[in-house]
Amino acid sequence: MDWNLEETEKKALIEIKNAVDEKELEVFRIKYLGRKGVVQEIFSYLGKVPKEDKPLFGQKANSLRNNITKAIETKKQSFIEKTKDFLNLDVTLPGVAVSLGHKHLITQTIDEICSLFETLGFVIQEGPEIETEAHNFEGLNIPEDHPSRDGFDTFYLEAEDPYEKNKNLLLRSHTSPGQIRIMKEHKPPLAVVIPGRVYRPDAVDASHSFMFHQIEGLLVDKDIKFSDLKGLLTDFCQKFFGKNINMRFRPHYFPFTEPSAEVDISWKDGKKEWLEIMGCGMVHPKVFEFVGYKKGAYTGLAFGLGVERIAMLKHGVSDIRTFYENDNRFLKQF
Ligand code: DAH
Repeated sequence: MDWNLEETEKKALIEIKNAVDEKELEVFRIKYLGRKGVVQEIFSYLGKVPKEDKPLFGQKANSLRNNITKAIETKKQSFIEKTKDFLNLDVTLPGVAVSLGHKHLITQTIDEICSLFETLGFVIQEGPEIETEAHNFEGLNIPEDHPSRDGFDTFYLEAEDPYEKNKNLLLRSHTSPGQIRIMKEHKPPLAVVIPGRVYRPDAVDASHSFMFHQIEGLLVDKDIKFSDLKGLLTDFCQKFFGKNINMRFRPHYFPFTEPSAEVDISWKDGKKEWLEIMGCGMVHPKVFEFVGYKKGAYTGLAFGLGVERIAMLKHGVSDIRTFYENDNRFLKQF
């Protein structure tokens, strides 16, 4: 083989320079300076070089060997220095504080609410944000002509529902479709909370955003009564907001519960102003029918609460938009 000594040397020096640790450096040392290494091969070749070229070739080969040897020595030294630096570390010097992040207030609120329900035996489940009309509306007894199914109140996707012809997929407008998914897959007794993002084409203002968070709750068994619903939610509100609150269940209408109510709270020592915090009710028989439960076999309670609203009430936040602006001066306070 004819040797291009310049090229060989250049390549060797780059490899040595880029060695990441002593182990890799040793691999290169053996490759170039070892008994069967490149340098050795070059010197064996010297015998075949024509007489007149020999002095120059020999000179170049010597310089190649010296340069590679030097480069390996220098690199080795640099590794040793690095280790020394590390060993010389003065652990008594004041450290550089690492600034730790923390969970966003929305995540904290979801965690807090879910773990309160967990202590009552509920399990946490999640559903998809892209839903079908069947789960988001039909299964929940929301009729075809209900205003919430309008394009002004729900984000429809261009993609067609793979299970139903001529129906499009959508961004779920509430977490209630999670109820349908759970019940389709499991038989009672069931006790679940379903947290997650929901989407509505609302105009953005201080109390509306086109994306926000809800937590859905569902308890289904053989003999669940409205008094269980009242007891459960009263217990939750007192644990979450403190004993210093008044509560009322105000009759309301939701297609998927019957009877239905909205829950309001007010602070005992504050202004006598009622603030709505969630919707709830007894699961409608039509919903049980949709998921294939035997008629009359079960009763259940359900509730749905808006996480932002609850976090705003509890922490005195006046503008929902501040949750999503990622301004650390706001986020740091919680
Ligand atoms: N899905 C309702 C909404 O987004 C909230 C709700 C009301 C959920 C009553 C429930 C319920 O489970 O029982 O406005």
